[in-house]
Amino acid sequence: MRICVTGARGMLGQQIVETATALGHTVIPWVRPTADVTQLESISQRAMQDAPDCIINCAAWTDVDGAETNAAAAYLANYIGARNVATVAANRGIRLVHISTDFVYPGDIHRPLLECDSTDPKSVYGMSKLAGEDAVLTQCPSAVIIRTGYIFGKHGANLIDKIATGIKSGYTMQFVTDQWITPTSTTLLADASLEFCHSATVGTYHVTHRGGCSTYEMASLIAELTPGTGSVINTTLAEWEPIQSARCQAVGRQLAKRPVYSVLNTDKYDQVASLEAVVTWQDAIRSYLRRSNA
Ligand SMILES: NC(=O)c1ccc[n+]([C@@H]2O[C@H](COP(=O)([O-])OP(=O)(O)OC[C@H]3O[C@@H](n4cnc5c(N)ncnc54)[C@H](OP(=O)(O)O)[C@@H]3O)[C@@H](O)[C@H]2O)c1
Repeated sequence: MRICVTGARGMLGQQIVETATALGHTVIPWVRPTADVTQLESISQRAMQDAPDCIINCAAWTDVDGAETNAAAAYLANYIGARNVATVAANRGIRLVHISTDFVYPGDIHRPLLECDSTDPKSVYGMSKLAGEDAVLTQCPSAVIIRTGYIFGKHGANLIDKIATGIKSGYTMQFVTDQWITPTSTTLLADASLEFCHSATVGTYHVTHRGGCSTYEMASLIAELTPGTGSVINTTLAEWEPIQSARCQAVGRQLAKRPVYSVLNTDKYDQVASLEAVVTWQDAIRSYLRRSNA
């Protein structure tokens, strides 16, 4: 297939380019300034020139806290950008896979979330991503939207690496026991995105590793697997948020509200996926750290 990847310099974009190339696809990375998703004309030109079978839209404003004070910029990339890519895909009959986030949910239901659960983002980032999803499905109803969370991979700064570096450097780090997530590797998302390029599936799908954890549980596993004198200690959101908020304000930023519970139910994806069994978040982190430490 000929596959164009927007945001191809980002953490996920780079992994998709790498995986798709290894699978023998013709991959055309779309990066700024020649493929700026906020410019309809630029995307339209590139689509005409590159004639892809599929576009995977990884371009996004991803600075969650920064979006609180830069709403216009976040909406420009996450809403207008998504709408532009979807418009071009629909006009040219190109398959579209669009990446979204668990931050579209309010995070107040304490069970793995279904795709049909109510959305009600608590942050500007989440609102802008939800507006992008709506625009994608309006402009290009045949698109697939992947909702995922807490991405980690070798091509970008991520929490797993930060914790591992902290352990190696001897830091003591605090993580909360009452906020639940599922860490998800870029390799899983690359495989899933490419599989969706081939399929005729439409609509919204959750894609994550199996299971869920508190950020403290995740950090504890990383500490266990990483040599070093650092450590992790537990705290709660009630204790941690005011401290983090004050830290943000001290540098002119505003702490965005995150969903308290955003473990995603992936049954819908399991029914269409032909991937080998998706591993648990623990196994995904183990193999990531093994490779990073090798
Ligand atoms: N990271 C996470 O934990 C997480 C969790 C859930 C969902 N997601 C979603 O996953 C997707 C990929 O995230 P990521 O972590 O790979 O993000 P990332 O590393 O921040 O990469 C985002 C990429 O988007 C590009 N971009 C931004 N504005 C653009 C524009 N106007 N035109 C073209 N490209 C533009 C950036 O380009 P430059 O290189 O030029 O800056 C960057 O390469 C996003 O949709 C994000 O919302 C991420």
